[in-house]
Amino acid sequence: MVLISSIFVALNLLHFSRGLPEACTGICNNSHDPAIIRRADGTYFRFSTGGRIAIHTAPNITGPWTYRGPALPGGSSINLAGNQDLWAPDVAQVGNQYYLYYSVSTFGSQNSAIGIARSTSLDAGTWTDLGSTGVVSNPSLPYNAIDGNLINEEGTSNYFLTFGSFWNGIHRVRVTPTQKHGDAYQVAFDPRDPAIEGPTVFKNGGFYYLFFSKGSCCGYDKNRPAAGKEYRIMVCRSTSPVGPFIDRDGRSCRNGGGTLVLGTNQWVYGPGGQGVYRDPVLGPILYYHYVDTRIGFGDGQKKFGWNRINFSSGWPVV
Ligand SMILES: *[C@@H]1O[C@H](CO)[C@@H](O)[C@H](O)[C@H]1NC(C)=O
Ligand SMILES: *[C@@H]1O[C@H](CO)[C@@H](O)[C@H](O)[C@H]1NC(C)=O
Ligand SMILES: *[C@@H]1O[C@H](CO)[C@@H](O)[C@H](O)[C@H]1NC(C)=O
Repeated sequence: MVLISSIFVALNLLHFSRGLPEACTGICNNSHDPAIIRRADGTYFRFSTGGRIAIHTAPNITGPWTYRGPALPGGSSINLAGNQDLWAPDVAQVGNQYYLYYSVSTFGSQNSAIGIARSTSLDAGTWTDLGSTGVVSNPSLPYNAIDGNLINEEGTSNYFLTFGSFWNGIHRVRVTPTQKHGDAYQVAFDPRDPAIEGPTVFKNGGFYYLFFSKGSCCGYDKNRPAAGKEYRIMVCRSTSPVGPFIDRDGRSCRNGGGTLVLGTNQWVYGPGGQGVYRDPVLGPILYYHYVDTRIGFGDGQKKFGWNRINFSSGWPVV
């Protein structure tokens, strides 16, 4: 009986360990809503919410991660509440410039803006704040201008910022990539559970994959949601960067669709705030923050996690 249950436990571990994060050493907390990029010299940069966009670097995605300072030590020049508490960075290379998108908002407010900063090296101390992208919101608009993510339509000079939200889900707008250029359209929404946000659009094979976070993101130490309602990472896909996006069962992402990529399992709780990066060495990786239940549920205790993505079925598996 003991033997049988040990085998059962071992099999379960084998099965579930597929979703456990790969190694991380050094400073693996201070990693809320991470954004990852690898510089040509092999240095990995991690940007995260808080500390005026905290920058950490490492010689390897596995670490050891070292804190390097804030990207925007003076906060943002955008004249909105929250301009000293910047959220949800996204980093992208366009030509020989790096762009850092960030959100200015306050929790539960629709008075928000997506700002942008520029650097040629990624290093702390080299970022110039360019202020607002023009992607802004207020209570009269059907979206919330937070959580921007840049995607280039392959083979063209078209750029889109996918963003939001809570309010009416996730939207996208054409950008230059430093300025808004046209109207915003909804790409994902769940009428039964509008708590979806933090989009990432990633091109692989013939598809653009829209990853997003669903559920309750934060404050688990004070107010834990019902089981299954915590943050988790979902996906839909489309042949176009602007949609329409559908999930594996053919459901529209604008009407509650979304296929689970990574959720709570074993000691990983509430993974989200994800990004996807085509690592030159490792191939496509999914990265995110999560609660390690063996450490604690506080937002400051959340850790950086990452996994390789296997797209061989046409859908991302970690
Ligand atoms: C990163 O670390 C892993 C695990 O230790 C190792 O296999 C890999 O070769 C390292 N990559 C680089 C670029 O150093
Ligand atoms: C973050 O990690 C560092 C070292 O790994 C540790 O000293 C610190 O207490 C951690 N912070 C929180 C809020 O858990
Ligand atoms: C990807 O997943 C398929 C099964 O869906 C498997 O056959 C293949 O070996 C996996 N590739 C890698 C690199 O793990």
